[in-house]
Formats: sequence, structure tokens, C-alpha cells
Amino acid sequence: MSPKTIITGIGHFLPPKVVTNFDLEKKMNTSDEWIRQRSGIKERHYVEPGVGSSDLGYEAALRAIEDAKIDKSEIDFIIAATLSPDHYFPGIGVLVQAKLGLSGIGALDVRNQCTGFIYALSAADQYIRNQTYKKILLVAAEVQTSNLDYSDEGRDMAVLFGDGAAAVILEPNEKNDNRGILSTHLFSDGNYASDLWMEKPSPKDNPTFSKELLDTGRFFPKMDGRNVFKNASIKMPEVVQIALKHNNITIEDVDHLIPHQANDRISLMVAKILRIPVEKVIRNIDRIGNTTAASIPIALDESLKKGRIKEGDIVVLTAFGSGYTWGSAVIRF
Ligand code: ACO
Repeated sequence: MSPKTIITGIGHFLPPKVVTNFDLEKKMNTSDEWIRQRSGIKERHYVEPGVGSSDLGYEAALRAIEDAKIDKSEIDFIIAATLSPDHYFPGIGVLVQAKLGLSGIGALDVRNQCTGFIYALSAADQYIRNQTYKKILLVAAEVQTSNLDYSDEGRDMAVLFGDGAAAVILEPNEKNDNRGILSTHLFSDGNYASDLWMEKPSPKDNPTFSKELLDTGRFFPKMDGRNVFKNASIKMPEVVQIALKHNNITIEDVDHLIPHQANDRISLMVAKILRIPVEKVIRNIDRIGNTTAASIPIALDESLKKGRIKEGDIVVLTAFGSGYTWGSAVIRF
């Protein structure tokens, strides 16, 4: 059997500027109490103008490379997950590659929003196990706060999101000691695309960009909050159960669950449905907000660096988001 894929290095980067709920109160008609009650968020990080997701991803990549104790020239493939690329095209994979000075190697961009890290992890796992690549850099990075609607109409979304990035280095486990990625499961249902999307700009409009477009506000992300809450609370437990069954383990065998940090109320609902003690659920949304594709690897890095996740622990990742897309990964550390 081919060796499993292991994470040999991990790092994250948050832009230094912290925006609290009280800061948002000054910007729009909201309150610290409303935001904390509905989402569990107290503060999040914002980039300064001029900083893109490739910049945050690059910083995270440097930290992951250092953590893996490799030379960056050993990286033979890049996968980048984001819903907020610096440009309409190209994606940020090549931009991170250029910043690292790694011209020539392949760079794949993954567009699966909140489930982006799990989709990218699954792709990396296949490449490593079939021996296509030996050292993959996976970057998940988001800059969302520059395109949120801070008016009353968009405040349901605007209070949730923050900026940030994380990166991992993935390699084959040459020791073959049973550590590594045990499974990934991916799902989607495009019938619900408009429940959570940024509709415009769209090449379906001809011309794509017009003065009228600016008046519509349809270039801001929009969400049907109730539907997202309902589906996220159903699909994440469901895909965790599928993963447990696949690995022939029970929820009692799981040491840590890292749900996508969408909203703390969703994370607590997922924990309740799965009947996993809340102490086993890793939650950092109070300080970081929702960083979409970056949320799971940021939480993972924090937990590893704090020593909360130890060698041998079984960690289950699960995410749900725009698409709809959802998925899970089981990793033995
Ligand atoms: N501050 C103050 N009031 C607000 C804010 C805000 N930031 N946002 C919305 N409101 C108002 C609405 O305008 C509405 O006012 P109205 O009643 O006068 O019309 C009211 O609050 C709605 O509040 P609720 O009664 O709590 O409404 P509901 O039960 O529908 O909950 C909510 C809305 C909180 C968005 C809920 O649907 C939810 O938590 N959904 C989860 C969505 C989520 O967190 N997604 C994460 C991002 S997506 C992802 O990562 C997967």
C-alpha cells in the first residue's frame, strides 16, 4: 500500500489590524450583543488597502515551509484555495508561486469557498499517494473585508467575515506508521448556488462591467442565512458520520473536531447533533471571525502550536459553504 499523506509543516498569518464588534458599531447599524449572540464573534482581522490574498498566502507559506524544515525549492506543486483571489484571473496559486520564486512548478487553484481547504487537501492527498508529487504546498487565503456591504442590507454578512491565511506542506509518510490523512469525502449541490454567492460581476452580462452594475449592489456577497444555517447544521454532521463509518471508528474515537468556523452557533449545533463533547470541538471564531477557506487550517495550526493536538490524535475536519459544497477529512496526527 502506498504511504499515507502527512502534514509535515503548517503556518498561518493574520493581518495585524483587529476590528472589534464595537468598531463595526461605528460603521453600521449593529451591536456587539447582536453579533456575539448570533455568531459568537468578538473581533476579526482586516487587511490594509493594497494587500491581497496572495500576500497573506505567501506569509503563511513561509511559516509552513519553516515549520516543515524544508528548503522551498523542494516544493514540487502548489494548490491554492480562495474565494477572494487578487484578480478575476489568474488565480493566486501562480502569484504565491512567483512570490516564493518557484517558477515552473504546477499551481492549481481551487474554488470551493468554505470547503476549499478540504477539497484542496483531498486533491493533494491523491497526488501524494499516487506518487505524482512529493512535497505539496497548500495555501488557503482570504481577503473578504474589502467587498462587504456595510449598509443595513448587508450587515448580516458584513459582521461575520475576517481576513487571514494558512498553509500546509504535505508529503508521503515514509515511516508508514499509520499517521496521516485517513480519508476525505467531498459533496456539492449547485441547486443552492444562489443561497450564498457573489452574483456579479458576471460574464453573462454583456458588457460585464457597466455603470448600472455599481448601482445594483449585486457585486456584494449575499446569503440566505436561515437556509445556510439549516443546511450547514445537517450536512456537516452527515459528512462526519460518513467519514467515521468509512474508517470504522465512532465519534468516541475522535480526539478533536474542527468545523469550518462559519458561525459559533452552527459549530455548537454540529457538536450537539454528533454528540461530541464541546471540549473536543476546536473553536476560534470569537477572535478570528469567518475566514472561509482559511478557517480550518488556521484553527489547526493554532491547536498544534498550543499542543492541544498531540501525536496520534484523530482529528476530524468538516466544512460547509457556498456552492453548496461540503466535506470532511480524517487525519491521524
Ligand atoms: N446587526 C444587527 N441586526 C442585524 C444584523 C446585524 N449585523 N444582521 C441582520 N440583522 C437584523 C435583520 O435585519 C433582521 O431585522 P428585522 O427583523 O428588523 O428584519 C434581524 O436582524 C434578523 O435577526 P434574527 O431574528 O436572528 O433572524 P434569523 O433568525 O433569520 O437569523 C441569521 C439571521 C443570524 C443570519 C441566521 O440566519 C444565521 O445565523 N445564519 C447562519 C449564517 C452564517 O453564519 N453563515 C456563515 C457564513 S457562510 C459560511 O461560512 C458557510
